[in-house]
Amino acid sequence: MQVVNNLQDLNKALHVETNKSIGFVPTMGDLHDGHLSLVQRSKEKSDFTVVSIFINPTQFDNPNDFSNYPVNLEYDLSVLKKYNIDLVFIPKFKELFQQENKVNFPLNGLDQVLEGRHRKGHFNGVLRVLNIFFKLIKPQYAFFGEKDYQQFLIVNLLAKNQFKNIEIILCPTRRLQTGLAMSSRNSRLSPDQQKIASKIYETLNFCKMNFSFSKIKELESVCLEKLKDFSDPEYFEIRNSINLSNKINKEDKCRAFVATKLSNVRLIDNLAIN
Ligand code: PAF
Repeated sequence: MQVVNNLQDLNKALHVETNKSIGFVPTMGDLHDGHLSLVQRSKEKSDFTVVSIFINPTQFDNPNDFSNYPVNLEYDLSVLKKYNIDLVFIPKFKELFQQENKVNFPLNGLDQVLEGRHRKGHFNGVLRVLNIFFKLIKPQYAFFGEKDYQQFLIVNLLAKNQFKNIEIILCPTRRLQTGLAMSSRNSRLSPDQQKIASKIYETLNFCKMNFSFSKIKELESVCLEKLKDFSDPEYFEIRNSINLSNKINKEDKCRAFVATKLSNVRLIDNLAIN
């Protein structure tokens, strides 16, 4: 496994035979089984897997969230080594963003709702860094987790508009036995709080079970009340899975999306409900 920190070494290491496919797994480190399932998927699908570890400051709307973001580099490298990853890229901010070529394309409102409404500038920051990574790494495949489903839709648009040769692959959310979605933020919760946080998944499942015979607005507010029993919710919303519209036609594929805080740790999750 090669670990590189600068562009010169990255370019040298990326001299992969042209008939080989590159799979890319972007991460912010502090790897858990959710990340590792993306890594595993990339290993199965591609000939050469690149993992990046970079806590991207441009996607944090809250400086505390950025400075508290867990760092676990030694562990990350040891686990990636076990997976026999070909290349790990750990760039420095300045050198990376010097490569930026700003792009502009319509996001069809996908960035204005849910996370986009509650974390101003978040998706702009995600797109900025992925636009640079995609340009430098030129993968055939890039892997994203379903827990960040809205991010997946937006990155898909980036690929469709700017990187037509990159296929964006959605991988299922990995959950603890309790149902809590795996997230680097979980490490900031005590074991008891983690148990309580599993009620987020319970609430999503309640929504799924009641979806076909409930009025949308009523179901959303019942779910919001359930979240309030144990946390401080920002939203619970049912939306169309393709365009994130809240004009729901029950024949269309829909998802429930949630963001809530438990002792100031912000957790998100979502579930396909029909
Ligand atoms: O999902 C994440 O961890 C980040 O948004 C990503 C894709 C690594 C970009 O910084």
